[in-house]
Amino acid sequence: MHYRRCGNSGIKLPLISLGLWHNFGEIDDYENCREILHTAFDSGITHFDLANNYGPPPGAAEVTFGKILKQDFLPYRDELIISSKAGWGMWDGPYGDWGSKKYLVASLDQSLKRMGLDYVDIFYHHRPDPETPLEETMGTLDLIVRQGKALYVGISSYEPKETLKAIEILRELGTPCLIHQPRYSMLDRWVEDGLLEVLGKEKVGCITFSSLAQGILTNKYLNGIPEDSRVGRHLSNGAINESQVTPQVIEKVKKLNELAIERNQSLAQMAIAWVLKDERVTSVVLGASKPKQVTDAIGALQNYSFAKEELSRIDDILKN
Ligand SMILES: NC(=O)c1ccc[n+]([C@@H]2O[C@H](COP(=O)([O-])OP(=O)(O)OC[C@H]3O[C@@H](n4cnc5c(N)ncnc54)[C@H](OP(=O)(O)O)[C@@H]3O)[C@@H](O)[C@H]2O)c1
Repeated sequence: MHYRRCGNSGIKLPLISLGLWHNFGEIDDYENCREILHTAFDSGITHFDLANNYGPPPGAAEVTFGKILKQDFLPYRDELIISSKAGWGMWDGPYGDWGSKKYLVASLDQSLKRMGLDYVDIFYHHRPDPETPLEETMGTLDLIVRQGKALYVGISSYEPKETLKAIEILRELGTPCLIHQPRYSMLDRWVEDGLLEVLGKEKVGCITFSSLAQGILTNKYLNGIPEDSRVGRHLSNGAINESQVTPQVIEKVKKLNELAIERNQSLAQMAIAWVLKDERVTSVVLGASKPKQVTDAIGALQNYSFAKEELSRIDDILKN
């Protein structure tokens, strides 16, 4: 594993982290979950990324993780960076969603209970809240750190302008923003439009999600939709579905796959490498339904530099 410093903090993160959004719910096989986590940790993946609502049902991924932590990983707690988040709808009524102090404090308490932890290493506000004053949400992140319930804080899916404001408020409060978690892949490049620049300038880390476009940027959908794939399983809760695996997208993926083969990589490895080529990206948080997907992803670290011609070929493929 290779590690990169997260902004100008004391923390280094593995270039590949593991996320538990899907595949760790009540519908998933417990022993497979265990094996995925073991494969990851044994490969040097020291960072596991969770959120209050991961499941299904919401909360279940934290319960599964807590069980495996107790069973296998407690002796290694100090070797792990564990994150959780709140910001999406979690419980009924007006206090279980968005960015109020009431929601964030209660949600983190619930997450800690589910995982059997005294503290998380990183706590995120999961998405911007257009109604709650940013001062309240950031003030709550600061409070949570002062209470010892999180060591560091971060934000997710904030636009460049609101990111800068959040960073400034947190800096003033004395709890620097450690990291931003945006979606970023060859198929979704919005962060290139200002966000990476802000993070680079402010020396805040960046951990990208859905860098395989939930599996589209792998070779799995090249010849149809496998039954055991994320699309084939007909999941809800933000998971991709058939409508996103269009012939136009697959045409691009086929061309990208040809380039990956020329680079002696799987397409998944090239997709991860492509994100990691930018040093402002601290880590890619990978999703995995099988242990061998974790091993495959780690193969990306054999080569995450690109020749200029390769990059312009990728740009051409994506444009057309
Ligand atoms: N902050 C946020 O708002 C937010 C939002 C979404 C995700 N996240 C975080 O990011 C993590 C990753 O998100 P994601 O699951 O969308 O990411 P992803 O890495 O783009 O997709 C993961 C899926 O791709 C497939 N896959 C992975 N490796 C493969 C390989 N080598 N070959 C073929 N298929 C492979 C698997 O799907 P199959 O089931 O088809 O095998 C896997 O579940 C989440 O777990 C979560 O921690 C955060």
